[in-house]
Amino acid sequence: MKPGGSLTERYLALLKKSLLNVLYLENEARIAYFVIHALRGNLPPATQIVSDFLGIRRSEIFHLLKEARKVGGWLVYGGANNAGHPEEAAARNFFFTAHTMIGEARLDNIHYCLDTIIRDGIPGDLIETGAWKGGAAIFMRGYLSAHDIHNRLVWVADSFEGLPRPTHEKDEGWDFSKDIFPYLCVSIEEVKELFERYDLLDDKVRFLKGWFCDTLPVAPVERLALLRMDGDLYESTMDALNNLYPRLSDGGFVIVDDFNALPQCREAVNDYRRDHGIADEIIPIDQDSVYWRKSGSRSSNPSTQGHSMRSLLKLLFSPRRVQ
Ligand SMILES: C[S@@+](CC[C@H](N)C(=O)[O-])C[C@H]1O[C@@H](n2cnc3c(N)ncnc32)[C@H](O)[C@@H]1O
Repeated sequence: MKPGGSLTERYLALLKKSLLNVLYLENEARIAYFVIHALRGNLPPATQIVSDFLGIRRSEIFHLLKEARKVGGWLVYGGANNAGHPEEAAARNFFFTAHTMIGEARLDNIHYCLDTIIRDGIPGDLIETGAWKGGAAIFMRGYLSAHDIHNRLVWVADSFEGLPRPTHEKDEGWDFSKDIFPYLCVSIEEVKELFERYDLLDDKVRFLKGWFCDTLPVAPVERLALLRMDGDLYESTMDALNNLYPRLSDGGFVIVDDFNALPQCREAVNDYRRDHGIADEIIPIDQDSVYWRKSGSRSSNPSTQGHSMRSLLKLLFSPRRVQ
C-alpha cells in the first residue's frame, strides 16, 4: 500500500486500511487475546490486556494478525488452523472485525485492475460473486466514487445465507454451509449497513440475493469489466464463469480468490478455461489468489503489481477441508 500524493489515492489507501481494520488492530488483538486465553484457561489480568498498549503491540497475536491482514486469511495462533484448539477456530468470528477477509495484496489487485480498466476504457460494470461482509465490493464502489465515475455499477452477488451444501461431485467433502461455518453467513441487511457506514450505499450498488445458479442466469448485468469470484466451491465458481464470463468485455479482468487455496475452485477454473480455449496468462496475486485479463485487451503485458508470494508459516487459514 503506497498511496500517491493525490487525495483520491490517499482516500483509497485509507479505505483499504479501514476495511482491513488495521488502523485499530490492537483492539482486535486484545479481543483475540482475551478469547483465546480464556478458552485455554490462562487468562492474564484484564487490566493487563486492556491497558498495556505496547505489550499488546509486541504480542505474537498482534504480529500474526498484522501479517494475516497483508495476505488474507485468519489469525492462526498456536499451529495450523488453531490445531488442537477447535473452539478457538470456531470463536474467530467474535474477533475477526475486518470487513473483508481478502487482505491487502488482493485489495491492491482490485485497485490495479480498476486503474487499468479506466485507463484503457474497458466498458462494463464490476461484480463480486461471493461477498461475505462486502468489503471487496465496498472498495469497488469507493473507487468509482473517488474517481467520479457514474456510468458503472457494482454488483454484489451472494446468498447472504452462507455457502450452499455441496451437491456437485467435485465439491464432495467441502461443506462450508452455515451449520458448519456460521461466520460465512452474513445477512444482506448487515452488508447494506456496512456499505452505508462508508457512505457508499446508493443506486450504483445492486444486490443479487440468492444462489448463483438462480440469480446469475437472469441477472440484469449487461456487460462487465471486472469479474471477481470468491465462492469457494466448484459449483459456485463454475456458475459464475458460465453465466458471467461471456458478458466480460475484452480487456476485462477475472479474479479468482481461491485458485491456489481450494482445489475444487482451481478445477472449475481449469475446466472452464480448457472447454472454452482460454489461454490468457494466469497471474499470481498472493499465496491463494490469481487473475487473468481477457484477451483482446488494448494493452498487453499485465503486471503482477509486485504481488510476491509471502512467507506464511503458521498464520494462514487454508486447510478448510471438513474433517
Ligand atoms: C469466502 S466468502 C467471500 C469473501 C469476500 N469476498 C470478502 O471480501 O471477504 C464466500 C461467500 O460466497 C458466498 N457463496 C458461495 N457460494 C455461493 C453460491 N453458490 N450462491 C450464493 N452465494 C454463495 C457465501 O455466502 C459467502 O458469503
